Amino acid sequence: MTPFARSARPARAPHLPAAESAGALVIGGLAHRYALPGGALLALDGVELLVRPGEFVSLVGPSGCGKSTLLRLAAGLLRPQQGSVQALGVPPTTAAAAHAIGLVTQQPGLLPWRSVAANVALPLQLSGARRESAARVGELLARVGMSGFASAYPQQLSGGMLQRVTLARALAHRPRLLLMDEPFGALDELAREELRRELLRLWEREHVSVLFVTHAVREAVLLSDRVVVLSARPGRVVADIAIDLPRPRDDTLEATPAFAQLAAAVRAALASNADRMEAAS
Ligand SMILES: Nc1ncnc2c1ncn2[C@@H]1O[C@H](COP(=O)(O)OP(=O)(O)OP(=O)(O)O)[C@@H](O)[C@H]1O
Ligand SMILES: [Mg+2]
Repeated sequence: MTPFARSARPARAPHLPAAESAGALVIGGLAHRYALPGGALLALDGVELLVRPGEFVSLVGPSGCGKSTLLRLAAGLLRPQQGSVQALGVPPTTAAAAHAIGLVTQQPGLLPWRSVAANVALPLQLSGARRESAARVGELLARVGMSGFASAYPQQLSGGMLQRVTLARALAHRPRLLLMDEPFGALDELAREELRRELLRLWEREHVSVLFVTHAVREAVLLSDRVVVLSARPGRVVADIAIDLPRPRDDTLEATPAFAQLAAAVRAALASNADRMEAAS
């Protein structure tokens, strides 16, 4: 640990219960409707989901099935209309106010007029940790391999670099729950692989609980302890598949029959749901 790491650690709200006793994310009977001019659109219906402390869970499902909606509810950006969401044992808005949730959205969303360092420092500054922020920002940029780009601006970065900075920003407060919405979606395969390795290293080191949305079955299996499959809209959990592959994981894992079997199980859950949709339409 670097000397500044302890002093730069932003205080955690004392009223958050230990995640170990609560489940990092506990969702029950969750439904969400969007109000549209022509009527309501049911995005999620009866979603049950548990992310245990320290678990890496991926969420896969067809486009438009409500994955981003679910993440917004878990992050406290949307209020549950029906059912319950508990993040780290409290309502997500409480966990978010205590800086215990890190969110990486589908679009990087960095502020173009702020440098890389200033973007990563923003959550720390907003929470009043201005004094410690320079040291912490340096540490974060090093963790995501962006040390040399602290004074660059977002428009000068590649897609992969933008995602690295977004990840650094999400980690600023040492969240206990990290919610990631297709963070590598816009990247080429090489950049994706590199960031996947980086993410696994971070996850192993930080003991953070992760809910990771992806369209890529291979990616979900490579990263996760469990893969949760959602149905087409309205999203419901149709499969919850344990990925009991050894860790640490490397690229050779993909060549194993166990990997192929698990990936096939996830694909089958996605496909069986597509069949039902066709039958219903
Ligand atoms: N703010 C909103 N207002 C109205 N409808 C919305 C809103 N956000 C999402 N929706 C609708 O809710 C449904 C679920 O959207 P959501 O973005 O959660 O899906 P998704 O699974 O993340 O899709 P993708 O994989 O394409 O990112 C979609 O039909 C979408 O059109
Ligand atoms: Mg989405």
